[in-house]
Amino acid sequence: MLLNEIIRNRVSSNKFTNTKVENNLIIELLDQAVYAPNHKMREPWRFIILEGNGKLNFIQKYLDEIHEEQKDEIKKTMEKVFQAPMVVAFVMPKNSDYSDELEDLQAISAVIQNFLLLLEEQGLGSFWKTPKYIESDLFKEVLGLNTNEIIAGLIMVGYAQSKNLPKPRKKAKDITTIYS
Ligand SMILES: Cc1cc2nc3c(=O)[nH]c(=O)nc-3n(C[C@H](O)[C@H](O)[C@H](O)COP(=O)(O)O)c2cc1C
Repeated sequence: MLLNEIIRNRVSSNKFTNTKVENNLIIELLDQAVYAPNHKMREPWRFIILEGNGKLNFIQKYLDEIHEEQKDEIKKTMEKVFQAPMVVAFVMPKNSDYSDELEDLQAISAVIQNFLLLLEEQGLGSFWKTPKYIESDLFKEVLGLNTNEIIAGLIMVGYAQSKNLPKPRKKAKDITTIYS
């Protein structure tokens, strides 16, 4: 598939088959995705893969720490993302310099988009999620983040049960100013 076809074919998927996603394949794809631009080669990223028992243990460990009256609601919210056979957390360091942190967020976002396109090329579906709970200290702690790290996104990964049609986008000619 040509790059323009991969870009146009990628859509967010949230229903996956139970087919296991191989960790080795994902590591390979991440090794390719990191060839993204990043200022001063800070490479402001690391990854956490949750799948199989590791995923289930993580959810249980997190829910164990939640107050009883909130548990059902949080469980329901989490299931939306963690129903995927695999979830990859993209983790970046905080930066005390606002401009640097913005650049780092841009750089890790470029890695994420590379990753989504590489998944598409492999016939794998994905969904980029940023639920509110990724900001909670408890979620970050249970996931094993350091206090100076944040989550740029949780990526649901799996073999999609079906594929949505791409959502239409604004046409470039309507939103581009050309000085020539
Ligand atoms: C930074 C970022 C965060 C996102 N967070 C969420 C989210 O929390 N929940 C959600 O349903 N979709 C989320 N999305 C996915 C978008 O809703 C989706 O990409 C958009 O509707 C376009 O659809 P498509 O991916 O099928 O082209 C996020 C996308 C980006 C880039």
